[in-house]
Amino acid sequence: MTRQAIVAANWKMNGDSALVDTMVSGLADIKLSSHVDVVICPSFPYLSELAQKIKAANLNEAIHVGSQNVSEHESGAYTGEISTAMLQNLAISYVIVGHSERRSIYKETSTQVAKKVHAALNAGLTPILCIGESETERASGATETVLSAQLQPVIDEIGIEKFNDVVIAYEPVWAIGTGKTASSAMAQETHQFIRQFLAQQNEQVAAKIPLLYGGSVNAANCEELFAQADIDGGLIGGASLKAEQFKIICSAAKGK
Ligand code: PGA
Repeated sequence: MTRQAIVAANWKMNGDSALVDTMVSGLADIKLSSHVDVVICPSFPYLSELAQKIKAANLNEAIHVGSQNVSEHESGAYTGEISTAMLQNLAISYVIVGHSERRSIYKETSTQVAKKVHAALNAGLTPILCIGESETERASGATETVLSAQLQPVIDEIGIEKFNDVVIAYEPVWAIGTGKTASSAMAQETHQFIRQFLAQQNEQVAAKIPLLYGGSVNAANCEELFAQADIDGGLIGGASLKAEQFKIICSAAKGK
């Protein structure tokens, strides 16, 4: 069995139609290993445009479009929210759920994140579930407790077998947008913990699930990070806004 590698671009609240064009033309001649998927997650207003332009340019079919968030509710009076049905309607296949910025700035709880994962799965979308500890939590030795507390509500909500259709992104909060990457050894150690935590409940699911690393990944450090036994690609912020850098990062990913 080969485990799928995934490189996901999180544009956050950046980018415009010009970036959509630059990215689509920049990725035209991309060379990807087999068992690699690329997911580009722009802001909501550009999802449809990106999906259409990827199709029109006939890009590698391993390149997909993802959303940065989704509502846990089906429809109704939720001003400013976007539903899973709307994403389905736009042929979006992935959704980032529980990014640390959603958790810290918009106060999303792990219970709410679990409901979003559930809603995404029900709609046939692949959730990229983000987990990660803060700098103080890491310093006080609480990393494993924090990660377990973020994962357990999702396991309770959907059941461990459904993790067959989930991607996890481990992003230490102190490494996001700071230029401070976790060392490859530290990232590997934490990824191994996450896989073992899941293996306690289901070994097959744990062996198969793609575990992405995120936090200041760039063209210079991606190769070493992706070479680690339990790192199956990355969730890329800043470096995903530059087509050349992002291409190098995508090309460094390999299924394991
Ligand atoms: P960064 O962001 O690569 O800019 O650190 C990663 C993320 O927040 O997903």
